[in-house]
Amino acid sequence: MKSNSTQDLPLDPETLPFHVAIIMDGNGRWAKKRLMNRVKGHEQGTQTVRSIVTAARELGIGMITLYAFSTENWARPKLEVKALMMLLKKFIISEREEFSKNQIRVNIIGQKHRLPLDVQKEVDITLALTKNNDKMVLNLALSYGSREEIANAVKQIAQKIESKELDSKDITQDLISDHLYTKTMPDPDLIIRTSGEYRLSNFMLWQAAYSEIYICDTLWPDFSKDEFIEILKNYQKRDRRFGKVSCSTSNDG
Ligand code: IPE
Ligand code: IPE
Ligand code: MG
Repeated sequence: MKSNSTQDLPLDPETLPFHVAIIMDGNGRWAKKRLMNRVKGHEQGTQTVRSIVTAARELGIGMITLYAFSTENWARPKLEVKALMMLLKKFIISEREEFSKNQIRVNIIGQKHRLPLDVQKEVDITLALTKNNDKMVLNLALSYGSREEIANAVKQIAQKIESKELDSKDITQDLISDHLYTKTMPDPDLIIRTSGEYRLSNFMLWQAAYSEIYICDTLWPDFSKDEFIEILKNYQKRDRRFGKVSCSTSNDG
């Protein structure tokens, strides 16, 4: 009988997802459970980011996208937003040498221009420092919102049509993809969301068309490398049909 447990199976390096995206949720609840300020949860969450990025690189993941701050998160209390920006700045400064050492290229998706200027400056330094690294891409989704991303793509395409650079007949799925923040990137193979919420919260609505989704109850600060590996093993057991018939059930050639 086929066991449902993946604990006993090794991770198959041949069938790893290339692009893993994580909706890192649950920092606030982690802190609340400990009667601490939400910011403490974000601080602890930063440690998890560090360990999961390292794990992804060690495991041979090609691209990891971390949803760190949404367009909607600007509406949180001013002090929390300020603390999140401060933590982001600290993270991007303290990790840049490690990224370089491990050949990780950092990329940003989202409204970089909305970040405080001092954060933008440090982000730019990290982008420049890591731009030639080629072992893994770390995509940070900052002030990212999928609807805004799509609206922005539509606006760019409309402007190109107005200036006759494009014709409306040129509009294809690929053209739209090429105007998103994720242009040049493959769609996520696997989207993980922590803290048990069954929603995408405005994350990669276009790109998630055929992503495998895994939701775990663990709050982001408690998320570990071991759990990450179990999720990757679970992914490896899935049958990605893309609307077609499974290879193993199709017998008509
Ligand atoms: C995720 O944790 C971090 C961000 C969205 C910036 P939350 O802060 O959303 O934590 P919960 O959902 O309130 O527990
Ligand atoms: C999604 O988490 C955004 C990030 C993880 C950055 P939220 O906590 O903002 O999502 P909702 O409000 O629960 O949908
Ligand atoms: Mg949340």
